[in-house]
Amino acid sequence: MTQVVQYSRRGAVGVILVENPPVNALSQAVRQGLLDALRQGLEDDGARALVLAGGGRTFIAGADIAEFGRPLAAPDLNDVIAAFEDAAKPVVAAIHGTALGGGLEVALGCHYRVAVAKAMVGLPEVKLGILPGAGGTQRLPRLVGAHVALTMITSGEFVPAPKAHELGILDAIVEGDPVDGAVRFAEALDPAGPHPRVRDRAERIAADRGSAVFDEKRRALEKTARGLFAPQRCVDAVQAAAELPFEEGLKRERELFGQCMAHPQSKALIHVFFAERAIGKIPDVPADTPARPVATAAVLGAGTMGGGIAMNFANAGIPVTLLETSQEALDRGLATIARNYAGTVAKGRLTQAEMERRLSLITPTLDMAALAEADMVVEAVFEDMAVKQDVFRRLDAVAKPGAVLATNTSTLDIDAIAAVTSRPADVIGMHFFSPANVMKLLEVVRGSATAKDVIATAMQTGRKIGKVSVLVGNCDGFVGNRMLMPYSRQAELLVEEGAWPEQVDKALQDWGMAMGPFAMGDLAGVDVTWRIRQRRLAEGKAAGSPLTDRLYLMERYGQKTGAGWYRYEAGSRTPLPDDAVKRMIENHRETHQIRPRAISDEEIVKRMIYALVNEGAKALEEGMALRASDIDVIYLYGYGFPAWRGGPMHYADSVGLPAVLADIRAFQQHSGAEWTPAPLLERLAAEGGSFAAHDRRR
Ligand code: 3HC
Ligand code: NAI
Repeated sequence: MTQVVQYSRRGAVGVILVENPPVNALSQAVRQGLLDALRQGLEDDGARALVLAGGGRTFIAGADIAEFGRPLAAPDLNDVIAAFEDAAKPVVAAIHGTALGGGLEVALGCHYRVAVAKAMVGLPEVKLGILPGAGGTQRLPRLVGAHVALTMITSGEFVPAPKAHELGILDAIVEGDPVDGAVRFAEALDPAGPHPRVRDRAERIAADRGSAVFDEKRRALEKTARGLFAPQRCVDAVQAAAELPFEEGLKRERELFGQCMAHPQSKALIHVFFAERAIGKIPDVPADTPARPVATAAVLGAGTMGGGIAMNFANAGIPVTLLETSQEALDRGLATIARNYAGTVAKGRLTQAEMERRLSLITPTLDMAALAEADMVVEAVFEDMAVKQDVFRRLDAVAKPGAVLATNTSTLDIDAIAAVTSRPADVIGMHFFSPANVMKLLEVVRGSATAKDVIATAMQTGRKIGKVSVLVGNCDGFVGNRMLMPYSRQAELLVEEGAWPEQVDKALQDWGMAMGPFAMGDLAGVDVTWRIRQRRLAEGKAAGSPLTDRLYLMERYGQKTGAGWYRYEAGSRTPLPDDAVKRMIENHRETHQIRPRAISDEEIVKRMIYALVNEGAKALEEGMALRASDIDVIYLYGYGFPAWRGGPMHYADSVGLPAVLADIRAFQQHSGAEWTPAPLLERLAAEGGSFAAHDRRR
């Protein structure tokens, strides 16, 4: 027998234990091992019933995702499940941790399912752009009906064991050790059978035949899962459970599963699954690097960012001191925090008591000395080097030895900030995104002197406060905003050449971006963009288009002034095209003798997205991002890039790098130096490579 699945006996019950760390994924060896162990259990005359359990931290977390994309080696998971379902002895699944995807499907093939109360079950395949392909779409609806099955399968959400018990997915909740509980449950079963098979439970799903629930779900998904392929196929599969005999339903599920697997969206979403897990792997800061304890924190500045950052700490139960320069600014910041929490309470997502507990963790102060005991300080004062250096000098004088001193700067040089302290090794960038209490992305910016344990601490604390932490290098704009510069520049050039802002935004939104660049500019503030442009111009760097200056002079600062690239009606965030902006653009074109031309959506998308790819490749080659897949994660979590396109770098791989490069060269002929192809892109395209292959080589 293979080692990853073991058979043993507890009294009169045979126990089949999967031992394939870390999550007991159903690799080929596990599938074969399950069949072998089942045979052993059935042949064991001393065993009157069997228990199937997972060793280590969990039951079975599903198919082995790393095997996807390769021809599947026998035995097929469906055959394994059928063997359990048809077993002559009763089989009880003993669930702890998670029973997910193929793991839950195996459990649904068992005759009974018991779980500890803390366990979770779910069919999360849809998040990978696929659907349950081992009978999940056929068996689950037979237990819970089409409505609940559709919700679970199209959302992929995990269901806690007590709820799963209530729904009829589990037969019992057991106390203590799951295997002991399952053995007790199995001892009470009649070995003679017949043993209940989920596939035979026709009555519940029969009631859903011809129901409107399927079309209703399809319509709802057109809004909530816009552009996604798999959710609609999930509905097709569950409908097949209601309308076809079991074996035919299974066949239909296989077909739909194959369609999803062949679709580019599943490749993108599976890439995202591994990309999200790769971000924590830093070659010179291994996972066992001891992090400094962060039991208390402090935030400097209670403005737009500081308030949200303080909330992040309080939400994670970490007491945080909030420093301002005046009582008025402090009161304003605290009032905003209280209003944000109250909004969450009003939506029913937080209790009043929890809100009060969190608020009580935030201690306001005007005295820098109150920061002396903080383990981590995050500075979020004005974006001005002189102000920041002054703050860090004073912080250096009061902070305790070993405190992590972080700056939330979005554009300034971390090393120049660290240099004014006596401890540059303790200084790091923690670049949150606005609104800081909502946005998941955190760029952790490594300075040239930053100590490894400070990096480990910032990455870990970021995760603890609910962020997706990605390590980046110290360059202008770091990674995300650096790539945004040529992207925004293309948006403005497209408008100069003949497109309107709303056309550019719509083309990108239709392509999948959560927001177009002009609507985003209005949200971030035209004045903010203008200020960055002025600084870059002063530094002799590429700095976007004078259209921004015109808008700034018109005092159209974006949503906050009710007008920017768009106009906004009072109390509304809906961008409305504005003739005043059109006139301004036309005037600009006339002044610069630009004859407007019709620009296709295809050109818009290519120029915008390839601007990201080209700059991303430069940042990657310079070592500002560790992996192309890290850049993808940054764009998914910080900039509303559609996950089903995998991120800009994966998208370029999916188009093919030679084709991307050919377009970039064509743009270069048209507009010159700003489209100089990234040398890495040229190299990878020439050798038939990809960003993914480049990541694997590192
Ligand atoms: N296959 C292969 N590797 C997997 C895996 C899977 N199904 N699930 C997790 N892993 C790996 C991760 O890549 C990670 O590897 P690393 O340490 O080398 O980075 C390791 O296991 C630990 O994973 P996490 O860091 O995610 O651990 P957590 O404890 O945070 O979460 C989990 C555990 C909830 C199980 C989470 O890993 C998860 O959601 N996994 C995916 C579950 C899933 O999608 N299952 C369905 C698969 S598709 C399927 O079953 C098809 C079937 O219908 C035919
Ligand atoms: P803000 O202007 O809203 O808030 C800054 C606050 O700092 C003000 O309340 C001010 O009174 C306070 N302050 C100034 N000097 C201080 C000092 N010496 N001690 C204590 N408090 C002081 O600015 P915002 O937008 O919150 O930006 C803060 C930082 O975050 C900047 O570095 C900015 O670049 C960065 N950032 C901003 C983002 C945004 O979208 N607004 C996004 C990511 C980073």
